[in-house]
Amino acid sequence: MTAPVLEVHLSDSNAADALHHDVRVGLSADPKWLPPRWFYDARGSELFEEITALPEYYPTRTERELLRRSVRQIAARAAVDTLVELGSGSSEKTRLLLDAFAATGSLQRYVPLDVSESALRGAMAAVAREYPALAVHGVVGDFTEHLELLPASQGGRRMVAFLGGTIGNLLPVERAGFFAALRAALDPGELMLLGAGLVTDPAVMVPAYDDAAGVTAEFNRNVLRVLNRELGSDFDVDAFDHVAAWNAPQGRIEMRLRARHAMTVRLPAVNMTVHYAEGEQMRTEVSTKFQRTELEAELAEAGFADQTCWTDCNDRFALVLAEAA
Ligand code: AVJ
Repeated sequence: MTAPVLEVHLSDSNAADALHHDVRVGLSADPKWLPPRWFYDARGSELFEEITALPEYYPTRTERELLRRSVRQIAARAAVDTLVELGSGSSEKTRLLLDAFAATGSLQRYVPLDVSESALRGAMAAVAREYPALAVHGVVGDFTEHLELLPASQGGRRMVAFLGGTIGNLLPVERAGFFAALRAALDPGELMLLGAGLVTDPAVMVPAYDDAAGVTAEFNRNVLRVLNRELGSDFDVDAFDHVAAWNAPQGRIEMRLRARHAMTVRLPAVNMTVHYAEGEQMRTEVSTKFQRTELEAELAEAGFADQTCWTDCNDRFALVLAEAA
């Protein structure tokens, strides 16, 4: 067994700068918004894990079943020596992939990339223990910025897995930039495996983001706790209601926080004072749901060819395997 390697491309000061930037831009915009990446402190990550087990939240279990069904075909498609996983929180899906690729005999290395160093260390230690023959090379980084820093293949090819539907969190321009950057980071013939939510009945999608137990509401409000801790701000967290709405023209679920009454919030670390009107809604996340053909066209446009798509029987989620052309 080779000792795990950890490469760090993000520091606490980078993260603080990025948070300050996002808050300055988002809270001075009209309407106000925040990017969803700040949900995931330790508490937020725990709440997300809870969400994945909720009866209403179908994406995680749908993708897991799809992957279980298709993973042998995926592994048979190409002998890869390196499996890269972007935003590698999804341990169970990782094992499905590792088992199938290990069985082909070509896999030598697992490269998880995540913004959270602590999450990454935990995941790496577990994989190193369970797959002693595999080299583990973790990268602490942001998948929207650090794709060109991924380690090269070991003479064969790599597959980059981006699962969970996280692609849906990107705005259209960000998504186009991400696909282009990923294509540029790959050599022709290397593979991408993408998990993406599909447009389905709003009566199914909306409750997945507004569960009866209120876990998603807590997850949404948690971003205000993160701001209070990191910026010394004084958001009254309980004075915001959780909103989940289907934005049909844009094809996305939007989570928002709605101010119950007019408020003035001070944010010392960014030198801002922000006013909320009664009923004002601040967007905290977009979760885009795709039309399958549109997603395939976007990928083709970005230089991904030979696409194979698996969907569940309800057409709620897609796994797309594609090759850098
Ligand atoms: C982790 C980004 C895929 O958008 O469905 C869950 C996050 N937000 N409930 C999603 C989330 C509200 C989730 N992703």
